[in-house]
Amino acid sequence: MEGFGTQAVRSGLPRDAGTGALVEPIFLATTFAQQHVGSPTGSYIYSRSANPNRESFEKAIAALESAEYAIAFSSGMAATAAVLQGLASNSSIVAMGSLYGGTHRYLMHLAPAFGVKVSFVNDIHTELGPLLSQGSDEKVTVVWIESPSNPTLSLVDIKSVADMAHAGGAHVVVDNTFLSPYFQNPLKHGADIVLHSVTKYINGHSDVLMGVIALSCPEIRKTLSFIQNAAGSVPSPFDCWLAHRGLKTLHLRAPAASRNALAIAKSLDTSPLVLSVNYPGLDEHPQRRIALLQHRDGLGGGMVSFRIRGGRDAAAKFCESSKLFTLAESLGGLESLCEIPAAMTHNAMPKEAREAAGIYDDLIRLSVGVEDTDDLVRDVLETLKVTAINKKISN
Ligand SMILES: Cc1ncc(COP(=O)(O)O)c(C=O)c1O
Repeated sequence: MEGFGTQAVRSGLPRDAGTGALVEPIFLATTFAQQHVGSPTGSYIYSRSANPNRESFEKAIAALESAEYAIAFSSGMAATAAVLQGLASNSSIVAMGSLYGGTHRYLMHLAPAFGVKVSFVNDIHTELGPLLSQGSDEKVTVVWIESPSNPTLSLVDIKSVADMAHAGGAHVVVDNTFLSPYFQNPLKHGADIVLHSVTKYINGHSDVLMGVIALSCPEIRKTLSFIQNAAGSVPSPFDCWLAHRGLKTLHLRAPAASRNALAIAKSLDTSPLVLSVNYPGLDEHPQRRIALLQHRDGLGGGMVSFRIRGGRDAAAKFCESSKLFTLAESLGGLESLCEIPAAMTHNAMPKEAREAAGIYDDLIRLSVGVEDTDDLVRDVLETLKVTAINKKISN
């Protein structure tokens, strides 16, 4: 089989035989002419149902996630909503307590409208078993995992969770946004569906909002493709084209970000101005064993989070003072970003749930970009020096 880089560069629709254009044109047409009634010219009828740029992107994602199929949506949340609507309506799901704040918000406030009941767990490895064996009116149909979790970067042993879930008749969905298909392919470890906010590493240039799922089960594909067309949360042809272009360099961007993130995590780990560091590429990470098992070459990826000494104010000052980390939500772009999950991406979570998941007010999340390593490390250490407060705090 071809390597990841070759597939990233070459996967998609075959080159147009008529023109030989190296770069695929953008098919803006919303409708396609038919030769006779019910007999389209090619395989496209109406752009919500199928579009060449979307299909090309979906083919490339399927190849890179080792899946049979991929289905693209207008955002990561639209992909999440489609999966929950298709697989979890009128049933129970088990989700990790530490996960993207928007997913938490959806599960708390919108999923109940489809009859979805949610149990959040802090340790999925130990708490899933008892929930799966509850009575039939509490049947768990979906187990929702983020590995690494957002923003605490804890890892899940996907295979052991998938074995447990499948024995209990549940499907496993892994949100792989934080790692991208370059570092981890959850389907290879037994997951049924892998989901991405394409907005992040896959597009990689902070200029497209999009989501995608990849899977190999034809029945689930039928259900979710039906929702994609019927509910209509589809990405535009231009966004698909841009995201596909971004995907072609994922194998260059992702390891560069991971190298930078490791250097930063190591510096933070030895700093007296830092309470704790979360980074799965560090040997001290509590689930380092899982990283070595599941991640390409055991790499940690581009995301780091850490607790600064000095509480919420020091965290805010750090994010406002850094010269190379821009204070902004989102992640996975070329440029380095920082944010405070408790006040930004995860502020919809109740404080108790947040802190139970390790999301304290002093936790800073870094999306490490592909700038020069030395510049980024210097910036983090210098910013810490002028913003952290080195006195003992309680928590
Ligand atoms: C892990 C994770 N999953 C899903 C999403 C939602 O994706 P989108 O913003 O593209 O809707 C995000 C967004 O930040 C995320 O970080």
